[in-house]
Amino acid sequence: MRLFTTTAGLLCYLERYRNGKDVGLVPTMGALHRGHFSLIERARQENNLVIVSIFVNPLQFGPTEDLQRYPRQLEADQQQCERLGVDAIFAPTVVEFYGNHLSSSDMGIQVTQVVPPTSMTSVLCGRSRQGHFQGVATVVTKLLNLVQPERAYFGQKDAQQLAIIRRIVADLNGSVEIVACPIVREASGLALSSRNQYLTPAQRAQAPILFQALQQAQKVFKSGEREGMSLIETVKSELAGVSELQVEYVELVHPKTLTPLEQVEDCGLLAIAARLGTTRLIDNILLYNR
Ligand code: PAJ
Repeated sequence: MRLFTTTAGLLCYLERYRNGKDVGLVPTMGALHRGHFSLIERARQENNLVIVSIFVNPLQFGPTEDLQRYPRQLEADQQQCERLGVDAIFAPTVVEFYGNHLSSSDMGIQVTQVVPPTSMTSVLCGRSRQGHFQGVATVVTKLLNLVQPERAYFGQKDAQQLAIIRRIVADLNGSVEIVACPIVREASGLALSSRNQYLTPAQRAQAPILFQALQQAQKVFKSGEREGMSLIETVKSELAGVSELQVEYVELVHPKTLTPLEQVEDCGLLAIAARLGTTRLIDNILLYNR
């Protein structure tokens, strides 16, 4: 397995080893866990060359967010990638990836950004994370342009991110296939996340309430309930069982357009964001009307 910290190194490698092979890209911010592994395994099955990017992207963190304390563990990540049969890791520095254009200056950020449609960034996590999806859109577009993979792999865990990336690829005439992978959970139901490392043992015991609340709503949905208000209320009343939990939102939207839904017609995305102490957790389920 190769490790590249420069775009020139990565491009050189691709030029030499691509030879018409299918390339699969798995973009990550590192601190890899079983959620990431599932994406890498899927990419390994479907492509001849698998590239994993590991880059904590400052553009997608707000000024009060956890950019500084975000877990960084490149050596452990390298070992896992090696074990999973990854061909190359791309782990650039911020300056290598963005040039000097992000350094704090009176001019602010001086880098071209990709702006997703407001309708998709003004809901769910976009409400509280100003500029976050623009940062995600920019880094992912740059990675796709660099690697030009046949397929790129994203988790359903970040359902809004996935929908926005699909939309960007469609709107900008990208030819990459975006492959969505299911949420990997702990036995407790807690969705795996690099940020789970921040949880205290007591919070870890409380965190599965997010999935329990979503499952309760799914049960109500299966028994015939289609009204958004009612499904959202079901989730909220379950979440109220953990008083330490600060709920940021519970929303029902269409999974492709992210338009808020009053009722589930064909399909709905029921999503939660909540804080336990300083840790922000997200989770979601898809509700299919069949
Ligand atoms: P990161 O949080 O490291 O996640 C990388 C990929 O792993 C994302 O597509 C995410 O949805 C997926 N993932 C994370 N936890 C998962 C789980 N429990 N089950 C399944 N998939 C999971 O998402 C990002 O990084 C960044 O925003 C990125 C796309 C790399 C752009 O910087």
